Amino acid sequence: MEFAGKRILAPLAGITDSTFRLLCRENGADVTVTEMISAKGLLMHPERTGRYLQYGKGERPVGAQLFGAIPEEMAEAAAEIRRLGFDFVDINMGCPVRKVTAGGSGAALLSHPRLAGRIAQAAVSAAGIPVTVKIRSGFGKEPDSYLAVAAEVFGAGAAAVTLHPRTRGQMFSGKADWEQIARLKKEFPDRVVIGNGDVRQPEDAWRMVSETGCDAVMIGRAALGNPWIFSAILKGVPAAAGAGTQGMAIGPSPEERRALILRHGEEMHRRKGEPGIREMRKHLAWYSRGIPGSSAFRGHLVRVKTFDEFRLAVERFF
Ligand SMILES: Cc1cc2nc3c(=O)[nH]c(=O)nc-3n(C[C@H](O)[C@H](O)[C@H](O)COP(=O)(O)O)c2cc1C
Repeated sequence: MEFAGKRILAPLAGITDSTFRLLCRENGADVTVTEMISAKGLLMHPERTGRYLQYGKGERPVGAQLFGAIPEEMAEAAAEIRRLGFDFVDINMGCPVRKVTAGGSGAALLSHPRLAGRIAQAAVSAAGIPVTVKIRSGFGKEPDSYLAVAAEVFGAGAAAVTLHPRTRGQMFSGKADWEQIARLKKEFPDRVVIGNGDVRQPEDAWRMVSETGCDAVMIGRAALGNPWIFSAILKGVPAAAGAGTQGMAIGPSPEERRALILRHGEEMHRRKGEPGIREMRKHLAWYSRGIPGSSAFRGHLVRVKTFDEFRLAVERFF
């Protein structure tokens, strides 16, 4: 599985489910990945984690992201991911949320490069499919551990490292410091480095590649309500109107946008029933960004409960 040169949809908890991944794939994302899944949870309660691990053929290549702090558990979970047919395993070593770091997983591993390496090694030996690792730049205030962690996990056989160059302490504040991506690539010129963080419009993706030399670009928040961003990068043109970005000339036509949103809701309803329609409220809010009247539209979304209400709302607004 090749990561270099790819446009990758970032893992986003509660958002990048099978339906959203497929829509992004169809609109130019080359690779997608599930949201983070607890390795321990997968082993102990496979029935509960199963719904996060559903995917359709059209999504491939698709990876599953695991978090955990115990090498043996990571190995077993990675083997299970392969058995489920995924194309690669991504290990989360960047999640800043306390619930995850308190157990020693996610960004907590940034303080323990050797353990990070052992976890990657265990997953690589057991998975039989490529293993990638997603990191932040440090646990505390300073971006002080990404190079050491990358050295360990590359040494363990990781196929790629994704860097979101913020520290855990920063959460989502400030700016992603792309210079750290450039440093990582400079340090590991023969390895695949995936740049991530603050790509807001297609031009940013090109700029990230030219400024940092990274091999691939991963996009998270800018894809919300805007799965077209991936094809816009390919075309080198600005993305969809309604994406909250400026000066967009070329994107989907209103008809294309409406058709995709309807399909998104249909698919969510088919898979999840009315809870899927409630989940669509946040997507509708994102899809409506930047369109005149969107704040009034968002105000009405709490009333959207059934598929018919969803369809009516979409047909009226979009
Ligand atoms: C709502 C939300 C959920 C996220 N969930 C995950 C996750 O499950 N796994 C992960 O590695 N990163 C997760 N992230 C981080 C993103 O993958 C990405 O690294 C970050 O948003 C920076 O990229 P962006 O500026 O393109 O959004 C999440 C971010 C957000 C905003």
